[in-house]
Amino acid sequence: MTQTTAEKPTVTMETIVSLCKRRGIVFPGSDIYEGLAGTFDYGPVGAELKQNVKNAWWRSVVYERDDIEGLDAAILMNPRTWKASGHLDTFSDPLCDTRGPSRKRYRADHIEETECTLHRIVDVTEGEPAPVEGGEIWAPNKKKAKEFYQKYWEKYLNLEGRRVKLEQVEGSTRLGRFSPDDGGVLTEPRDFNLMLTTHLGPVLDSAAKVYLRPETAQGIFVNFSNVQSSMRRKLPFGIAQMGKSFRNEITPRNFLFRTREFEQMEIEFFCKPGHLCKPGEWTDEDWLRHWIEERMNWYTRFGIRPERLRLRQQEADELAHYAKATGDVEYLFPIGWQELEGIANRTDYDLRQHMEHSGKDLRYFDPELNDRYVPYVIEPSAGVDRSCLAFLVDAYTEEKVRDDKRVVLKLHRSLAPVKAAVFPLLKNKPELVSMARNLCRELKKDIYAVYDDTAAIGKLYRRQDEIGTPYCITVDVDSLEDQAVTVRDRDTMEQVRLGIDKVRDYILDGLREQ
Ligand code: GAP
Repeated sequence: MTQTTAEKPTVTMETIVSLCKRRGIVFPGSDIYEGLAGTFDYGPVGAELKQNVKNAWWRSVVYERDDIEGLDAAILMNPRTWKASGHLDTFSDPLCDTRGPSRKRYRADHIEETECTLHRIVDVTEGEPAPVEGGEIWAPNKKKAKEFYQKYWEKYLNLEGRRVKLEQVEGSTRLGRFSPDDGGVLTEPRDFNLMLTTHLGPVLDSAAKVYLRPETAQGIFVNFSNVQSSMRRKLPFGIAQMGKSFRNEITPRNFLFRTREFEQMEIEFFCKPGHLCKPGEWTDEDWLRHWIEERMNWYTRFGIRPERLRLRQQEADELAHYAKATGDVEYLFPIGWQELEGIANRTDYDLRQHMEHSGKDLRYFDPELNDRYVPYVIEPSAGVDRSCLAFLVDAYTEEKVRDDKRVVLKLHRSLAPVKAAVFPLLKNKPELVSMARNLCRELKKDIYAVYDDTAAIGKLYRRQDEIGTPYCITVDVDSLEDQAVTVRDRDTMEQVRLGIDKVRDYILDGLREQ
């Protein structure tokens, strides 16, 4: 593991969530219907951020390299794909349900064994105390049992208005797995597949059942030969794809970190297996090291602080069924170190599986060896939404400006949603408004610029700081005379006076990556 001594960001997830909602970055999904768990909608500002993150990735892997082709495969795939990939048989979590009233479902490996005592609910409203049927709560102590009772059991057993007591059953204390929400006994774990399903065509029978892809990778594997032959590619080369993936996550949580609908940016990089390489030729292991370095550098290139990024090699017992080795790029989120991207050596597992299930020969003919073999695959797999979250957290800054607090997103300029905002100093002066609008229209030919006159200038600056706009341009009364405007820099807050005809080049220059 690469050691770092970073401290957790001081910004909390709640602050980021609230900024995102307030400033049109991310809203809860289906907001007016109390939401839909594990879904989020990107607002006007967030849609730009997300697009910029995806563009930065696509540019760096497809345009800046000459060994990668792009692809945009369908989300719905022949279900045999998922049998071959192993997702139908192994893409599952072991789950258990509580027999208690909360009806919650848990990942079995997330529930620790605890020492609990049985507390029986006894009705003492009138006459002889009577144990209530089904009223059995497992809790470490009476206080907790009472909490469970008040939260769930009272209503569930129709005991509102009755007088009850909780009686500890002597000798019942034992170590076991109980619901941490209602103190109910948990059922035995059952495997729960994480793939979401739908049906194609008018008949809802099992023959029409298809899956929403849980990873974009398989669309690449099934197109390996198509891309290789149509683009006349020799090994090593990769195929990159971005797009939506879906997983029926049991516990979607932490905002954009774990959702049920998300986007991935994946590369499958096909190379010669190590055992066929000549001395000096890059093996699959060399390519894995290369991709880990490339991907770590990508995050710092776009502004992530190096001390909040680390590499963690997965232990043998953590590896996915297809992987020989995996390096996780982790970021120090407000919730602690968490995976941003996994870079796996998938060996020839996937292509071999698809050969077997489809009956098609997906081997590569190597002209140098004059022989065919199944390529090995290195897979850098990143999440778009997790990356957006990391970029937001990393950019979030609070500064003291005189007696005031300034919130500013110091996003890398190429990720900033809005590049420039243009304001007239006085919105009731038509000449200023028209000059500002014209300037904005001109800038829009090259960048995403916005015009705003809905508040006083100080407030307009603060609004743009909060979404990370690198440049604010103010047209004032003098502008009418000197044909010049004031350009303010987001980070330094310094202002320069520039001829209106110089603004475009000044901004494009400032936005160019250093
Ligand atoms: N093709 C390999 C693969 O899908 P993964 O580790 O399951 O591997 C890769 O996913 C990346 O996709 C993760 O590192 C993460 O960034 C993103 N990701 C996975 N599940 C996610 C979820 N439920 N919500 C948001 N992002 C997710």
